Amino acid sequence: MSAIPVIAIDGPSGSGKGTVAAEVASRLGFFLLDSGALYRILGIAAHKANIDLDNHSQVADLAKTLDIEFGSAGRGSVMLNGAEVSREIRTDLGSDLASKVGAIPAAREALYERQLGFRKLPGLVADGRDMGTVVFPDANLKIFLTASVSERAQRRYKQLIDKGIDAILPDLLRDLKERDRRDSERPVSPLKPAADAVILDSTDLTIDEVVNKVLNLFAAQTG
Ligand code: DC
Repeated sequence: MSAIPVIAIDGPSGSGKGTVAAEVASRLGFFLLDSGALYRILGIAAHKANIDLDNHSQVADLAKTLDIEFGSAGRGSVMLNGAEVSREIRTDLGSDLASKVGAIPAAREALYERQLGFRKLPGLVADGRDMGTVVFPDANLKIFLTASVSERAQRRYKQLIDKGIDAILPDLLRDLKERDRRDSERPVSPLKPAADAVILDSTDLTIDEVVNKVLNLFAAQTG
């Protein structure tokens, strides 16, 4: 096992893993890898470049050349080729494109090394779909964070309304189910818990409760 500890937090959209990962990283003083942001950036970049997502080699070539920079705040600022794209990648279009490029094996391969580069001392919290299964199979702790699909749709609805963005709950639920299906059924790196992952259901838990569970599990691992 590498001397640089990794906590892998995987799970479906809306499970709270992004918020939990950022908080755990901040409490431990660890680096944060928001791998979904990489897929979101690739999707948006392909869209801007008018690349047909059926052209897998072109999408993969684009993935290799992207100039991506994350702000020190982790989930905060994201720059693509020097331009701020933080808000754009979080739109529904960004979510949809990310899920589609995520299903392209050559694109996943192109982003693989880039993700390994985030593993630096004193440690890394990595959030995504395949952190514990594919990218960091030797992670010290693997969490699979879930919540019921209706709870996840409610959370997304509240987030959008709080931001002053109109949203229709049944549409969000339908889109979430479609992304879950695409992410879980793809042949390469599907969304599924690693055999040695701890499965946490956040449906009835607060963010703080989940964060504390993860920190306690990590403390127990490292003795
Ligand atoms: O975590 P997120 O919601 O930002 O991820 C957006 C999409 O990116 C998700 O629907 C699937 C894809 N993704 C992936 O395929 N592998 C990852 N490790 C992270 C995200």
